[in-house]
Amino acid sequence: MRTSAGSSCSDLNVQLFGESRLSDMARHWRFAIVGVGVVGEWHVRVLSRMENATLAAVCDVNPAQPAKAFEKNKITGVPVYTDIHEMLRKEQIDVVTVATPSGDHFTPATVAMEAGKHTFTEVPAATTVEGCHRLVGTSERTGRHCVIMENCCYFRNAMMVLNMVRHGLFGEMLHGEAGYQHYRIAQNVFDDHGNLLWCGEEEARRNGNLYPTHAVGPVGQWLNINRGDRFDYLVSVSGKSRGLNLYAAEHFGPDHPLTRREYALGDINTTLIKTVNGCTITLYHDTQAPRPYDLIYRAQGTKGLYMGTLDKIFIQGRSKGDTWETLEGYSEFEHPLWKALATRAEGTGHGGADFIMLQRLIRCFQTGTYPDMDVYDAADWSVIAPLSEQSVAQRGRSVD
Ligand SMILES: NC(=O)c1ccc[n+]([C@@H]2O[C@H](COP(=O)([O-])OP(=O)(O)OC[C@H]3O[C@@H](n4cnc5c(N)ncnc54)[C@H](O)[C@@H]3O)[C@@H](O)[C@H]2O)c1
Repeated sequence: MRTSAGSSCSDLNVQLFGESRLSDMARHWRFAIVGVGVVGEWHVRVLSRMENATLAAVCDVNPAQPAKAFEKNKITGVPVYTDIHEMLRKEQIDVVTVATPSGDHFTPATVAMEAGKHTFTEVPAATTVEGCHRLVGTSERTGRHCVIMENCCYFRNAMMVLNMVRHGLFGEMLHGEAGYQHYRIAQNVFDDHGNLLWCGEEEARRNGNLYPTHAVGPVGQWLNINRGDRFDYLVSVSGKSRGLNLYAAEHFGPDHPLTRREYALGDINTTLIKTVNGCTITLYHDTQAPRPYDLIYRAQGTKGLYMGTLDKIFIQGRSKGDTWETLEGYSEFEHPLWKALATRAEGTGHGGADFIMLQRLIRCFQTGTYPDMDVYDAADWSVIAPLSEQSVAQRGRSVD
């Protein structure tokens, strides 16, 4: 899973931020959004609350989509394009956010970098091994950032655990566990008229962990992936596929083509990653069997562990005996970003994480700080999907 073409983070940092930092502090960053559907509308909303950032233009192949987002957020006067090349030629843009369907991030992200713009891409950044390599190559060659917008890394508990890890509370890190466990057929797979949406098309033909970044993003940061450790290999196994056929039978009838169709994606996929420094990460992809939402988020080291599902923590020498505690007793580890921004983040998406993520990324650009999630993270977190497909197809054989 080595996706870097050779440059280190610090090489790219110097290349990108070697000049004019003072002027960057005062700079107003001009954003464009490509793809203004459900998630692109979140980008519209959160950008409209940012200081030092302006939504300068948007691009969507279906202009009715941005029109809806603008109406909802009472925004006027932002130019709408259907062609990214035309938008980048005509408008003055610094950063392009990409929120097109998952398989379509690669092209707008590379077009933007080639045009000299930084890119913030939705998750996953690319859906093929080659696409992940090419994102890294393009970012290194153009000297533009390709940041993955993994908002789960900015969840309050995820950042608190990161702070605890950095303070050595868990000792030496051993293991992480997380899952994209979200029953989302009704919203993402079928429309009401019995058609497959783009997510459903993916689930019909691919079998593996198709959506790994919400799970692996925070865990990767806790385990210092790409900052001292890196993924070595994975094994992945999927069970049987039932949920999509059952849903289609119930909603569209037993003889509907979507009921009789064969879907590739197993209802539960389990992927196990080994890192070069000897840590393990278990990831689940579980979106087709009815269940409440749960990302798990377990962080375990030589001195204790955090269990996100239970929101419980145990630290040897601090917790009594072998009993769990809640995070409340650990408030001194609240992450500084949450201490500073919690009030302003209130009411924004994902419990405020979307606001905190964008504030932080813009602040990084202003101060010349290297972003928390770079193109190497984008590639390594995203490539788990196609590599897990390879492993599933080979009866769970290990894939590097
Ligand atoms: N970060 C998160 O929490 C989160 C949550 C859900 C989805 N996502 C990701 O966000 C992305 C978008 O998902 P969505 O649910 O908003 O999809 P969507 O289908 O609602 O929106 C996609 C939009 O992109 C437009 N589009 C398609 N191809 C285009 C192109 N080539 N150029 C310009 N516009 C194009 C479509 O017209 C549509 O308006 C996906 O990759 C998804 O995985 C992220």
